Order: sequence, then structure tokens, then C-alpha cells
Amino acid sequence: MTVIVTGAHGQVGRCLVALGGEGITRAELDLSSAGTADFRTAVSSLFADGRRPDVMINTAAWTDVDGAEDVTNRRTVEAVNAIAPGELARAAADARTKFIHISTDYVFSGAAPDGGRGWRPDDPVHPANEYGRTKSEGEQAVLAAGGVVVRTSWVWSGPEAPGRDFVSVMATLAENGVDPRVVDDQVGRPTYAPDLAEELWALAHADVASGILNVTNAGEPVSWCGLAKEVFRLSGHDPARVTPCTTRDWPMPAARPPWSVLDLEPWSTRVGRTPPDWQDSVRRGLGAGFRLG
Ligand SMILES: NC(=O)c1ccc[n+]([C@@H]2O[C@H](COP(=O)([O-])OP(=O)(O)OC[C@H]3O[C@@H](n4cnc5c(N)ncnc54)[C@H](OP(=O)(O)O)[C@@H]3O)[C@@H](O)[C@H]2O)c1
Repeated sequence: MTVIVTGAHGQVGRCLVALGGEGITRAELDLSSAGTADFRTAVSSLFADGRRPDVMINTAAWTDVDGAEDVTNRRTVEAVNAIAPGELARAAADARTKFIHISTDYVFSGAAPDGGRGWRPDDPVHPANEYGRTKSEGEQAVLAAGGVVVRTSWVWSGPEAPGRDFVSVMATLAENGVDPRVVDDQVGRPTYAPDLAEELWALAHADVASGILNVTNAGEPVSWCGLAKEVFRLSGHDPARVTPCTTRDWPMPAARPPWSVLDLEPWSTRVGRTPPDWQDSVRRGLGAGFRLG
């Protein structure tokens, strides 16, 4: 089975390539040109006779959440996150290639629904920032073309990309003797990129070809502060060195959702798998060894 993967150098993309996906980089296909004739030509060449892939997984995205608020980036963010996914999904549908598109908990905002359950695939979206808004538009275009949307949250990759993700940053601070203040009023579930890639690989091979699904690591929801404390603890440092603060104490250009927990039950039902608990993954990631920055 041929699986092609956009965003081949990203956290999730590189893990999918490690599992056997054929990576497509930005140099080969620049999603910021979505909407142009050149982009459509480049996309159709991916599905040309003789090289039609069985599955395409689109992990490429504008992921700089705060940068997406900058008006000078708006056109690019819109092209990459909102327009390109639909064009890719339509080309895949024409070629009878299964299309899997990665999306985000940031399509939601507001407090936890119904006493603390996770967001379900069919809950109404309400993005609080430009990243979430453009990702939500991308979702709609993919669904209209008959593709699969997979929402995930709080992706980290540790040794794969040191310093680029929250867990790596906290491990580095712990080791370097820095005592951070970390927000305690945003709650979600972290997702280890290699685990996410395994789940997506299973989905690529499963009999599921359309609709919305969620997948993150499993386990009890946790705040960023709770996650930071766990990273300190699991790497042999005193978790009390991490001080809780509020979102208001840490102003950022883009609003963040307070509740990022995604309901994993549909994933178990439709894909037949339960991802590992996030604490196991942090332990594994730390065990794999961080190159400290
Ligand atoms: N990171 C998270 O916490 C998180 C949470 C929820 C959902 N997600 C979603 O999960 C997916 C994967 O995220 P990730 O963490 O792996 O992101 P990442 O590490 O930032 O990687 C994004 C990839 O997209 C590529 N890309 C960006 N602009 C592009 C363009 N104009 N043309 C072609 N490629 C472009 C990047 O290429 P370069 O390598 O050339 O820069 C990079 O390889 C995304 O859809 C994201 O929205 C992520």
C-alpha cells in the first residue's frame, strides 16, 4: 500500500515517513500557492497514472498559532490551512485515493461541555483564533470532498525535535535548573508524535474513509502545569519547582481554549484501537533521551 505524507519534515510527518510513508516536503509542494493553477498542476502530478497512492495523509499546516494572528500572514495561513486541504482532498477523491487530514482541538473554545466530557466529533465548532478558524474551514472542505478529518491535540515529539515542543522545553528547563511558571487553567491531553503516527497508520489501513475522528494519547486530562510537573517528576527533578499561573498571567496574541480534551470513544469504535496513556508516552519519550538545548 502506498501512503504519501505532506509535511514530511514536521513532527507528525516525519514519524509517518519512519513508518513507511512517502514524504512530500514544502519544496515539492508549497501549500501556500493553493488556489492557483500551478498548485493544481503540482497536485495532479501526485496522482498521475502509474503512481496513484492508496492513501494521502495531509499533516502540513501553518502551526504557528500566534503568528497566524498577524495580518501580514493572513493570506498564507488561509491558503495553507483553509484552501489547500480541500484542493488536495478533491484531487484524492478524483483519483480514488483515501484522504486523511489532520486537524486540531483549536476548532473548539469555551468551557468543558456537559460536566467535563471530551469534545465529540459532532459538537459545534467555535474557534477562538485564526489558526482554529482556518483549520475549521479546511475541515469543512475535506469533509465536502469525502475525506477523513482527524483532530488531535498538544502534539510533542521529544527526541525527534528537541526544543520545539512543550515536553522537550520543560525537560530542558528541569535539567538546566530553571523553575518555570506554567498555565494551570488550560486542560487537555498531550499526544506523542510517534504514537499519533502509529494511530494514523492504522487508520490508513482501516476500513474508514470519511467523517471526523479524534485521536490523542489516552489517560486523565491534565493542565499544561500538570504536564510540566510530570515531566519534572519523570526526569528525576522536583515537580514543586513548577509554579502554576493563569492564562491571564501569560498573555499571548492568540486566545487559547481552556478545554482541549477530545473524546476518544469514536476512535476505539471505528478504528478498534486505544492509544497509550500520555504518562506512559512521556516516560517513553524521556527514556528515549532528550538532546538538551
Ligand atoms: N503541534 C500541535 O500541538 C498540534 C495540535 C493539534 C493539531 N495539530 C495538527 O497536526 C498536524 C501536524 O502538526 P505538527 O505538529 O507535525 O506540525 P509541524 O511540526 O509544525 O509541521 C508542519 C509541517 O507543515 C509544513 N508546512 C508548513 N507550511 C507549508 C507550506 N506552505 N507548504 C508545504 N508544507 C508546509 C512544514 O514544512 P517545513 O518543515 O518546511 O516547515 C512542516 O513540515 C497539523 O495539521 C496541525 O495543525 C498539531
